[in-house]
Amino acid sequence: MAHSLTQLNTLQLTASCEQLITVTSIHQLEQILPVAKALVLGGGSNIFFAQHYSGTVLHNQIFGYELTHDSEFHYLSVAGGENWHQVVMNCCEMGIGGLENLALIPGSVGAAPIQNIGAYGVELANICVGVDAYSLSSGQKCYFTASQCQFAYRDSMLKRSRDFFISRVYFKLAKNWQPQLSYGELQAWRQQLAGLPSPLDVARQVIKIRQAKLPDHYTIPNAGSFFKNPVLTPSQANKLLTKFPGCPHYPAGENIKIAAGWLIDQLGLKGFSIGGAAVHSKQALVLVNQTQATPEQLIALAAYVRDQVNDKFEIRLEPEVNFIANDGYCTLEQVTNV
Ligand code: EPU
Repeated sequence: MAHSLTQLNTLQLTASCEQLITVTSIHQLEQILPVAKALVLGGGSNIFFAQHYSGTVLHNQIFGYELTHDSEFHYLSVAGGENWHQVVMNCCEMGIGGLENLALIPGSVGAAPIQNIGAYGVELANICVGVDAYSLSSGQKCYFTASQCQFAYRDSMLKRSRDFFISRVYFKLAKNWQPQLSYGELQAWRQQLAGLPSPLDVARQVIKIRQAKLPDHYTIPNAGSFFKNPVLTPSQANKLLTKFPGCPHYPAGENIKIAAGWLIDQLGLKGFSIGGAAVHSKQALVLVNQTQATPEQLIALAAYVRDQVNDKFEIRLEPEVNFIANDGYCTLEQVTNV
């Protein structure tokens, strides 16, 4: 029997799966697992259902917090079903800093380490010390330290394995908090302030910045950045920047990260649409479901954007969203051909 997932994905695509289980406790999870063909759904804000999914969707709705501290740190552990933004705001309201730059990121706590969420100079890897996870295929419970999670730019071992239900995430937040204001717009704001901002001040400013550029998925369905910012080797970056010196770029270890939104914007694609699917008019990296788009229209738009960028800049954009087809996770190339 098909179960609707239409209300459980922020792109608001008409979607369904064979079995849908709302998981509300660890006890229930331990009864259910292992499951042969399953995927975990949190806030549904980074997922693209291209077809009916023939497996079981486990919707993480396990809630709860624990907070302790010593003289130097706050130790926070949060159940995977909690809403990420709510956790950020609760911490900021208690005067606990460290999460504020990640305000207003849609999605659940359990999904945050999977793709190592990041914004405005901070990523989850900076504050996460470990996760409790259950293997979907074996049912085994594991604790992974941050280093075992192998966090990287929008990536982790958890994401690559596709096998884990994240039941709890552990954070270590310094009491001696310092705001991270290196991102251009935050720096400009800091310069106008008389004193040091509080975590709540920073969160409120981040919310302002995001609301000015990023569409609210409740009014314009979307999945945030549709593509990742490409990471180039220094010689590849040099070649691109010689030809296009205006392209925003940032150091990424020994490599260079390029602003994909700028590349798409240069092609004049802001507002470009195919059927009900469109490139957002204020942030070209975000594709939106403007007016009842079908998965096919959004896929056609994503493939068009990727191909146009490739033709002009010789850079192949990789999606940040996760595509799901009948059998589970798949690539944009695979869904383009279904
Ligand atoms: N830009 C343009 N035109 C556009 C979009 C961007 O010229 O249409 C330029 C901007 O002016 C800026 C640069 O490109 O100079 C970067 O843009 P922005 O600061 O908006 O961030 P981004 O690189 O497009 C990334 C994350 C966002 C995160 C912001 C802020 C990725 C894939 N995306 O976007 O995360 O909020 O930085 O840190 O890394 C998400 O992952 O869903 C997401 C929204």
